[in-house]
Amino acid sequence: MPILLIEDLNYSYISKSQRTDAIRDANYVFESGQVYVIMGKSGSGKTTLLSLLAGLDKPLSGQISLDGEGLESMDISRYRRDKVAMIYQQFNLLPLLSVQENVMYPMVLSGVSKPEAQQRSVERLRELGLGEQFDRRLPHTLSGGEQQRVAIARALCMPARVILADEPTGSLDSENSKIIMGILKDLAHEKGYLVIIVTHDPAVAEHGDTCLRMDAGRFPVLTKTNHWNNQINS
Ligand SMILES: Nc1ncnc2c1ncn2[C@@H]1O[C@H](COP(=O)(O)OP(=O)(O)O)[C@@H](O)[C@H]1O
Ligand SMILES: [Mg+2]
Repeated sequence: MPILLIEDLNYSYISKSQRTDAIRDANYVFESGQVYVIMGKSGSGKTTLLSLLAGLDKPLSGQISLDGEGLESMDISRYRRDKVAMIYQQFNLLPLLSVQENVMYPMVLSGVSKPEAQQRSVERLRELGLGEQFDRRLPHTLSGGEQQRVAIARALCMPARVILADEPTGSLDSENSKIIMGILKDLAHEKGYLVIIVTHDPAVAEHGDTCLRMDAGRFPVLTKTNHWNNQINS
């Protein structure tokens, strides 16, 4: 079960005329079986932090490690494929592929046989309440909540046990937000996934086991809520 550790993490966007320190000396231990919610103003560095955790960008200094192994010593494309799954606000489904093909696609790319990929995709889709009638439809014919469930089914077909979600309910109404948060909570609490969710929606944040705040690149900034949670957890 994964433990994701960040130590003295720094990241800056540097161009000729400007330097933005997006992450400043962040330290934290994320544990499996938990839902972490990260809140903070726009521009505070939340998306940057997720992209470092996802291995999409390299820290300027400091370290990220998963189960004791530093990212810098791992095969980063394997890390991105097998260790972490990203869920996005805009779902990122391939528009010309059917629901089932979308879920199968990363598996087939990583070498899973087509029949096996098909079987696994059907299992995950059904678990998430998407019946057979969805299999052949194109993403744009689904509601936002249904599309996000397809994106989650796709993530769950891969071996990753860390789910990183950037505003996963940002395009959904409150009813569908609740459904998606319920799914993410079950994955953490019942299947042992580590779930890290960025949101600006306090109603979404309530579903987290730990609510963390980010402010001007500082993470985590202590709040009453996470102080309280730290006490419960210790
Ligand atoms: N590609 C980029 N180039 C330059 N600066 C960027 C880039 N992406 C983000 N930033 C800056 O880094 C800071 C953190 O951004 P971001 O991580 O997107 O914050 P959030 O997700 O909390 O809104 C902001 O000041 C933003 O303007
Ligand atoms: Mg963002």
